[in-house]
Amino acid sequence: MEVRATNTPLLEWAGDGLAVGLFEEATELTGDLASLDEKFAGLLKELISEEEFKGKLGSTTITRVGAGSSVRKIILVGLGKPDSLKYETLRRAAAAVARLAKKQKCKTLGISLPIVNNDPATSAQAITEGVQLALYQDNRFKSEPEEKTSQVETVDLLGYGGQEAAIERANQIASGVFLARQLVAAPANAVTPITMAETAQTIANDHGLQLQILEQEDCEKLGMGAFLGVAQASEIPPKFIHLTYKPEGTPRRKLAIIGKGLTFDSGGLNIKGAGSGIETMKIDMGGAAATLGAAKAIAQLKPDVEVHFISAVTENMISGRAMHPGDILTASNGKTIEVNNTDAEGRLTLADALVYADKLGVDAIVDLATLTGACVIALGDDIAGLFTPDDNLAKQLEEASTAAGEKLWRMPMEEKYFEGLKSGIADMKNTGPRPGGSITAALFLKQFVKETAAWAHLDIAGPVWADKENGYNGSGATGFGVRTLVNWVLS
Ligand code: BES
Ligand code: MN
Ligand code: ZN
Repeated sequence: MEVRATNTPLLEWAGDGLAVGLFEEATELTGDLASLDEKFAGLLKELISEEEFKGKLGSTTITRVGAGSSVRKIILVGLGKPDSLKYETLRRAAAAVARLAKKQKCKTLGISLPIVNNDPATSAQAITEGVQLALYQDNRFKSEPEEKTSQVETVDLLGYGGQEAAIERANQIASGVFLARQLVAAPANAVTPITMAETAQTIANDHGLQLQILEQEDCEKLGMGAFLGVAQASEIPPKFIHLTYKPEGTPRRKLAIIGKGLTFDSGGLNIKGAGSGIETMKIDMGGAAATLGAAKAIAQLKPDVEVHFISAVTENMISGRAMHPGDILTASNGKTIEVNNTDAEGRLTLADALVYADKLGVDAIVDLATLTGACVIALGDDIAGLFTPDDNLAKQLEEASTAAGEKLWRMPMEEKYFEGLKSGIADMKNTGPRPGGSITAALFLKQFVKETAAWAHLDIAGPVWADKENGYNGSGATGFGVRTLVNWVLS
């Protein structure tokens, strides 16, 4: 599917489906809409009143235009109230249009949506993102593709002539989101530590990034006892992935992005029981997927920022070699950890990844992890938890996420709760009491970052997956985090 910029006037555009935006409480048609209504002999007015179309954000209605017309179908899409118009409005409206156009077998689609903030580039980018993300399909695991419904082939953004570069940027970002969705959606017998490393190699080859893969022996030499403790029961070797994007010339800043990379989380000997959702735990590499997706996008966008993409990838399995509950591990910063629960494995893998990233001399570190069920209980399925002691970094990430339409909510790092992680025998336990479980997880991670480093942790256990279609996300893997990371790196 190709998105194109054009200045073809609304009344002259010809094709299968023509979509126009309508604000909520727009009592009468004005400007282009009035002319369009006139061109089709009052069809729009009729459609609005017959369907009681109210213009609620993302609502749509469609009508067939008489035979012989240059446009086959007209789609109205709601934009909500004019004073709440933002880029996210465009993404959601464009997504609703794209889905309906596909269902209605429109091969060629024209979209007329307003320019937000007098910024046609960012607006065109948002519309393109909405269309691309909504039309994403994953047929990899079907022996035959879903019934051959016709596909949308071209999408013309009316009134956006000259915005080719913005469309290209959106396509590059979407390619990163698609990669993240594909990695998360694929089951644990298709995405393993080995295939994750291969994916990193493909990104490096395709887009000219540096890649270092640390094998188990390399991790042993670095003393990554926490990561390797988690990995030790798996038949598949762990892979520590470090991809680097370096701009031409001196970088404006240096950043590190870390993703939790559990290709499957059985819980270990503290096995996830029946009804725990163990069969969904292929998603436990969602942080690593967002990290690789961001790498793919950023390598194409080429900002003047150096970015390190890091993931300690393994499975959390059970075997005769598995960690015993109560084992004491030593992380690469020398700190000792009593593993009172083998299912709190993500923080163990992240501990060594954080120590590694901290040694790179970067200005800031952000980690993304499907870390706790507690965070899902706190914030639900749509919102990720943001944990950081650094107000400035919090602000950067909040702005990046708002612009992306990916929701974050800052959570407190209540130091007192670290008492819950006190161990009688080692420096700390890996698991505290159930109350405040996402906070103690973040406090645990903090032990592996120097006090001076700007660091933030995003708990994405909720939004990594959607049970049902929601705006431009279909049901399934969302690719959450990629677009926030891209905005953050570019900011
Ligand atoms: N991967 C899980 C967290 C998770 C839960 C992600 C639900 C996505 C959806 C993590 O490794 C885990 O098992 N966390 C435990 C921690 C507990 C043992 C302290 C949890 O949340 O129950
Ligand atoms: Mn776990
Ligand atoms: Zn996990």
